Amino acid sequence: MNSSNPRWIALQVMLQVVDRGRSLDDIFADSWYQSLTASKRDLGLSRELVFGLCRWYYALSALLARRLQKPLRERDRDIEIILLLGLYQLLVMKTGAHAAVNETVKLTGSGKKTWARGLVNAVLRAVVREEASLDSNAQAQAYPDWMLARIHRDWGEQAEQLLTEGNQRPPMTLRVDTRRAKLDDVIDALRADGADARKHEMVATALELASPCDVTRLTGFEQGILSVQDAAAQLAAGLLVCAAGARVLDACAAPGGKTAHLLQTYDDIELDALDSSETRLERLRQNLLRIDKSARILTGDAADPDSWFDGNHYDCILADVPCSASGVIRRHPDIKLLRRESDIMPTLAQQRKILDALWRLLKPGGRMLYSTCSIFKDENEVQIAKFLDRHPDGSEVTLHEVPWGEPCPHGRQVLTGRDNMDGFYYALLTKSGHA
Ligand SMILES: C[S@@+](CC[C@H](N)C(=O)[O-])C[C@H]1O[C@@H](n2cnc3c(N)ncnc32)[C@H](O)[C@@H]1O
Repeated sequence: MNSSNPRWIALQVMLQVVDRGRSLDDIFADSWYQSLTASKRDLGLSRELVFGLCRWYYALSALLARRLQKPLRERDRDIEIILLLGLYQLLVMKTGAHAAVNETVKLTGSGKKTWARGLVNAVLRAVVREEASLDSNAQAQAYPDWMLARIHRDWGEQAEQLLTEGNQRPPMTLRVDTRRAKLDDVIDALRADGADARKHEMVATALELASPCDVTRLTGFEQGILSVQDAAAQLAAGLLVCAAGARVLDACAAPGGKTAHLLQTYDDIELDALDSSETRLERLRQNLLRIDKSARILTGDAADPDSWFDGNHYDCILADVPCSASGVIRRHPDIKLLRRESDIMPTLAQQRKILDALWRLLKPGGRMLYSTCSIFKDENEVQIAKFLDRHPDGSEVTLHEVPWGEPCPHGRQVLTGRDNMDGFYYALLTKSGHA
């Protein structure tokens, strides 16, 4: 099978996700993927297959299990994924039966697994013949059991809606540097580029594109007037009000979406951008270069300031901590396959350590904005409740006035899909005393 075939590429990518636990971002960035010779259109189809299959993996696997007399062996994972790719094309993409079946069967190749050709053919043809469809509860079935249980536990009556939203394709949202360009002018320029956009109802810097496109070809991207950023992520800069001359720490900064927005929002701040990943910081550097802004870039562990902190305390800290990313599952559906329930406890412990360490770096009277792209309460309102118990010098600046998100006992939660935003959580904290 040649490496320009979109279905073959999708199969190879999915094998790396399922067998090796690699994220799609990682795979798309590596040299193997970059060297593929497929046309832009075929790469587009392979991505559609991969994103879609990750999104519907669990629901399609349940359906497949009922159609196999016995489960496939671990060493036949390739055949299982070929079958799932076929089911995805038939049942979700609604690809014509002829192309979906024939092209998928070809993936079994001419290797040793000659039996697989018959199996794939039989399963897919039966699905076509019986006009099978996904189960009525496929939206919930599309999640691993532990995630489903947690979403139900945390969100009760709202869970069903959240699950459905998490299975949608996300909108492409732009951030506009509104100090350099008016939204209406940008909308006109985008229209001339062939991209329809409208203003986001709640976020003054955000434009929603009618359909995703290659942002690098849009007028204003090279000049840093446009950047890609979900509307919920664009809320951070406005919440962490920074006075002129303020010392600001963006503690988990890479790839720099919020760093860039802070710098475009506040003049004359002294910004330190810290991250533990040198590779991700390289992307931050590129982003700042494009928008023509600068920050002091630090590599280090936010939970261990001794290795990077210069003793000069901060007026404002943004703690956009590592999290389950359960709020951005529609953008990164591979999370459904990659996250384990056992990841949650260590993530909570890491968030707690980062919060406690950063708190020591904040001046009295200073403000710290805690944020996650998670919808799990343990990472959000519960984490903050425990933080406030541990830190009597900390109090919450309530976010009652904002028009977005759900009020919580602590902080505010944007639920996935609500107001066309990703799932995000924000809590604003202040330290008692005067600077
Ligand atoms: C949610 S992402 C940050 C996104 C970023 N704020 C933005 O808007 O583009 C979390 C970041 O935390 C970094 N990180 C994870 N553990 C860290 C630690 N102990 N110290 C500092 N950064 C850490 C990750 O490398 C990742 O870049």
